[in-house]
Amino acid sequence: MLRRLCSLLILSSLFFSVLPTAAAKLCNSNDNDALLEIQEALGNPPDLVSAWQLDTDCCTGWAIECNSEGRVTYFFAFRGNHPFQIPPVIGNLTYLQGFNFIEIPSLTGTIPESITLLRSLERISISWTNLSGHIPSFLGQIPSLKYIYLNDNKLSGVIPPSLGHLPNLTELNLSENKLTGGIPRSLGSSTGTSRPLSSIVLAFNQLSGPIPRSLGYLNIAYIDLSGNNLVGDASFLFGANKTALWYLNLGWNSLSFNFSDVKIPSQLSDMVITNNKIYGRLPPSIAVPYFEEFNVSYNQLCGPIPTGGSLQLFDSWAFSHNKCLCGIPLPPCQ
Ligand SMILES: *[C@@H]1O[C@H](CO)[C@@H](O)[C@H](O)[C@H]1NC(C)=O
Ligand SMILES: *[C@@H]1O[C@H](CO)[C@@H](O)[C@H](O)[C@H]1NC(C)=O
Ligand SMILES: *[C@@H]1O[C@H](CO)[C@@H](O)[C@H](O)[C@H]1NC(C)=O
Ligand SMILES: *[C@@H]1O[C@H](CO)[C@@H](O)[C@H](O)[C@H]1NC(C)=O
Ligand SMILES: *[C@@H]1O[C@H](CO)[C@@H](O)[C@H](O)[C@H]1NC(C)=O
Ligand SMILES: *[C@@H]1O[C@H](CO)[C@@H](O)[C@H](O)[C@H]1NC(C)=O
Ligand SMILES: *[C@@H]1O[C@H](CO)[C@@H](O)[C@H](O)[C@H]1NC(C)=O
Repeated sequence: MLRRLCSLLILSSLFFSVLPTAAAKLCNSNDNDALLEIQEALGNPPDLVSAWQLDTDCCTGWAIECNSEGRVTYFFAFRGNHPFQIPPVIGNLTYLQGFNFIEIPSLTGTIPESITLLRSLERISISWTNLSGHIPSFLGQIPSLKYIYLNDNKLSGVIPPSLGHLPNLTELNLSENKLTGGIPRSLGSSTGTSRPLSSIVLAFNQLSGPIPRSLGYLNIAYIDLSGNNLVGDASFLFGANKTALWYLNLGWNSLSFNFSDVKIPSQLSDMVITNNKIYGRLPPSIAVPYFEEFNVSYNQLCGPIPTGGSLQLFDSWAFSHNKCLCGIPLPPCQ
């Protein structure tokens, strides 16, 4: 018994003494080569070089993640020394599940088509860069995509309808670009079909036309369409059955619809509809939620402000510049 224990101890100590050398370089060499090319394209910025650790083992770098086979699953790029484009070699990182290019003004050009080779890719994040051109419709050919963050770039053109065909798309943030055209109907749903989309952020672009009704069939949590040129009805984004919705910002558009019969979801916490052409009354159900953020100013609303909820906690600026709203915090109704 004791002998067996001893040999077990010897064996395990042997094992552990061998382990560090066996694991000396986990990073797959093809993946390492591809990352090296990306690092060079970025101009070998010192912060990035030390965060990636390509000269020792990329899998130990804090800005890189690998799977147990040493294949790169995630990288984070955050510096660039001279103008560069995302190199097509990114398509060689076969096991990549996500990547981030964040706050790199020197990043220009477009998204390379080679990323359609990445069959496990779930997250694309390119934000606060000078990425330009159109959002490529080939993103719709990567069915594994769940999170698309392309906010705060210089993207122009239309939102490709192909994004709406991604079965697992959960979060879409295209805010602060120069996108034009309408919101594709395909991003929504038709009656009876459920989609995992839980957050859609298209704020501060130049989107125009009506909001597609198909967005009203989603049980979505977060909607920000503010700062565009959207027109027409948006009443279908409200409703008692929108049980997930907690954030809704439609401000700074040209939406025009009757607010009187809208049912405000009781769990809504942020509602901003300022600077539109919304008319009618504030519906009684608006007194139910506890709002953290609320602004209906600069519309054409009329009638008494419902009491009994959280509306009286906001100052008059949240209600100002309407046709004839009245009651606390505005002057009393006649
Ligand atoms: C990327 O893959 C292509 C095609 O397999 C290959 O020719 C090329 O050498 C690879 N590049 C790097 C840097 O590994
Ligand atoms: C990126 O954009 C900023 C301002 O948005 C500009 O000052 C800068 O010159 C641009 N950089 C390149 C490399 O184009
Ligand atoms: C979509 O998500 C489901 C559930 O997580 C998963 O089983 C499926 O493989 C995903 N589809 C694609 C194309 O990645
Ligand atoms: C979308 O992008 C904005 C920047 O424009 C960022 O502040 C925000 O956190 C993002 N929103 C979501 C819901 O991802
Ligand atoms: C909510 O109800 C409306 C009709 O009252 C219906 O058209 C819509 O599909 C429902 N939405 C959800 C998310 O169930
Ligand atoms: C808005 O709807 C209410 C209730 O259905 C109705 O009484 C009112 O006349 C409508 N207002 C306008 C301006 O159409
Ligand atoms: C509501 O929005 C207007 C601008 O549209 C702004 O002036 C006002 O300060 C905002 N009020 C609150 C309470 O956020």
